[in-house]
Amino acid sequence: MNENLKNKVVVITGAASGIGKATAILLAKYGAKVMVTDINKKEGLLTTKIINDSGGFASFYNLDTSSKEETVIVLESIYKEHGAIDLAVNNAGIGGMVGPLHTIESSIWEKMIAVCLSGVFYSMQEEIKYMLIQGNGRIVNISSLAGLNGVLAGSHYSAAKHGVIGITKSAALEYGKYNIRVNSVCPGFVQTAIIDDVPEKVLNYTKNTRIPMKRIGTTEEVAESILWLLSDRSSYINGESLAVDGGFQAG
Ligand SMILES: NC(=O)c1ccc[n+]([C@@H]2O[C@H](COP(=O)([O-])OP(=O)(O)OC[C@H]3O[C@@H](n4cnc5c(N)ncnc54)[C@H](O)[C@@H]3O)[C@@H](O)[C@H]2O)c1
Repeated sequence: MNENLKNKVVVITGAASGIGKATAILLAKYGAKVMVTDINKKEGLLTTKIINDSGGFASFYNLDTSSKEETVIVLESIYKEHGAIDLAVNNAGIGGMVGPLHTIESSIWEKMIAVCLSGVFYSMQEEIKYMLIQGNGRIVNISSLAGLNGVLAGSHYSAAKHGVIGITKSAALEYGKYNIRVNSVCPGFVQTAIIDDVPEKVLNYTKNTRIPMKRIGTTEEVAESILWLLSDRSSYINGESLAVDGGFQAG
């Protein structure tokens, strides 16, 4: 059994940087047609350029996943232009170390839920709509270790990421019989812009005392797990939440 990604149309949200970008580049190497979506047009276009310059296929779409209206319009254009939405990686997200729960302002809570939870929900609604027409599909939602555990100074982030696992499992129950698999990946600490607001002291402490492998992960390592979950090599995995964390979650 091979990966079977050749010419598959994959939508990736938040693909202008970090994990989304590494995933876009990796999937393109395996022959997928990559729909790079993001609010950051400049960096998003750069991701598509890297892929197209190296012989792959990528196209950029401006998409704020917290907007249901934009999501409906953009996913419809992708489906009409490319004739399919075979695979999806719902990855767009924002960082979340702010402070203890009672200090988190409503506007920060609302933005977090809008991007990290509603964004995944809206994207899935549209992706699944087209996957049902096709009779197949695979979705990977990006949760976090914060979706499996509580997080100091990040209760709003943890709530959103627990929610992502909830909708992943529910969708796996609902759509398995339609040949649509839905899984999530839960990265630990990965070197991207999102961990810039994690204090150096906390990062070093975590690395030295909580991560058995004693290092932060790379975006490419997370991308490999996403590739596997999207490929035929994981054909019986559905509703799973895979920690990619150097062993953090083990103890
Ligand atoms: N880096 C980590 O340590 C880590 C750990 C666990 C989970 N994650 C999750 O991984 C995902 C990717 O994050 P990353 O670490 O690559 O960070 P990143 O900041 O490099 O990438 C996030 C991307 O999402 C985009 N984005 C933000 N808001 C958006 C919106 N409303 N609509 C569309 N795009 C939007 C950004 O422009 C950016 O390109 C996030 O969901 C994040 O919560 C990251």
